[in-house]
Amino acid sequence: MIPVVDVDIKELEMQAVKEVIESRILIEGKHARAFEKKFCDFTGSRFATTVVNGTCALHLALVALDIGPKDEVITTPYTFIASSNSILFSGAIPIFADVDVETYNIDPEKIEEKITDKTKAIMPVHIFGNPCDMNAINDIAEDRELIVIEDCAQGHGATIDGKHVGNFSSIGCYSFYGTKNLVGGEGGAIITNDEELFQKITSIKNHGRNPAGGYAHYLIGFNYRMTDMTAAVMNVQMDRSEEIMSKRHYNGNKYRELLKDSEHLRLQRILPGHKHSDYIMAPCIMKEDITQKQMIEYLKSNNIGSRSIYNVLSYQQPSYQDLSKWHLSKVIDYPDYTLVSCPNAESIAERHFELPMVTSLTNENINYIVEKLQDFFN
Ligand SMILES: Cc1ncc(COP(=O)(O)O)c(C=O)c1O
Repeated sequence: MIPVVDVDIKELEMQAVKEVIESRILIEGKHARAFEKKFCDFTGSRFATTVVNGTCALHLALVALDIGPKDEVITTPYTFIASSNSILFSGAIPIFADVDVETYNIDPEKIEEKITDKTKAIMPVHIFGNPCDMNAINDIAEDRELIVIEDCAQGHGATIDGKHVGNFSSIGCYSFYGTKNLVGGEGGAIITNDEELFQKITSIKNHGRNPAGGYAHYLIGFNYRMTDMTAAVMNVQMDRSEEIMSKRHYNGNKYRELLKDSEHLRLQRILPGHKHSDYIMAPCIMKEDITQKQMIEYLKSNNIGSRSIYNVLSYQQPSYQDLSKWHLSKVIDYPDYTLVSCPNAESIAERHFELPMVTSLTNENINYIVEKLQDFFN
């Protein structure tokens, strides 16, 4: 089976972990500092700090920006649940705006419709690695004095006019979960260009300590530190980032070239000047009588890994349909998410399917996959 998920880890990463273990210094330290520096170079941001995972990065960003109880944060429902869950963790209320049916990303016009006097922030998610329309989103944010936090969990290597995602807002949040373009098993990072905010974030992620450490706690904080074993893996992944990313982009470009005239498949539209991270390739089936399930089964029967992702939107999840089990529902009035409807997101959720994009994919694999897709519709 051509895998839909594969981990690009080599001997170098294994050796790096071994060295950390042998050093007996497992806690966040010199490897994390080295990785942060490399991640700044990779993203072109002034500051980066490591965290345990992408979910913690989002939560930390919200807390550091004083977004909390009863504030409304507008986000997309077509994403991994961590995006809106992090809003709930902070005490704020996720408000779902529909996506653009072609880019799969939050639609700036739909954001405007959702703004109320309680709106404090917008959380765009660069879904599958396709950069959101950050110019339009930032125009809205500026007009309405809203904070923007980018969920870049899937955006490693994605740019807008050559500038890396994560740099278009107060804070960009990354994940290095084991399936991402750059992997640490778990792991996350925050980038910002604001020095004061950076200092606050590094303190809050370390129980509110100052950089000298010790047992004085100046802010209420969390333990969101990354281990140095993860950081060591990330250091090697950064050294290999050009090799990894160029393969990802090669795969993405090849699919886009071969499938661009497909009558029955619609690929995610990439806006002019935007560069996709090529994390996930998930076309939508445009032929009414073909279901997502049929397509996935067909691909699997031809030894091509495929799956649907987010076919249940965030507001459709059982946990959102009945929020009474969430402890903060005792003190916060949440919207009735059973009444939310985002038709574009619902259509993508029903009609998309994932194709293999992993770095182990060969040219022959892609040709074979495209041939099988063409056979399917003929
Ligand atoms: C869009 C998105 N946001 C947030 C997260 C959360 O990251 P993590 O799994 O590292 O907590 C993920 C992924 O895993 C994601 O894909």
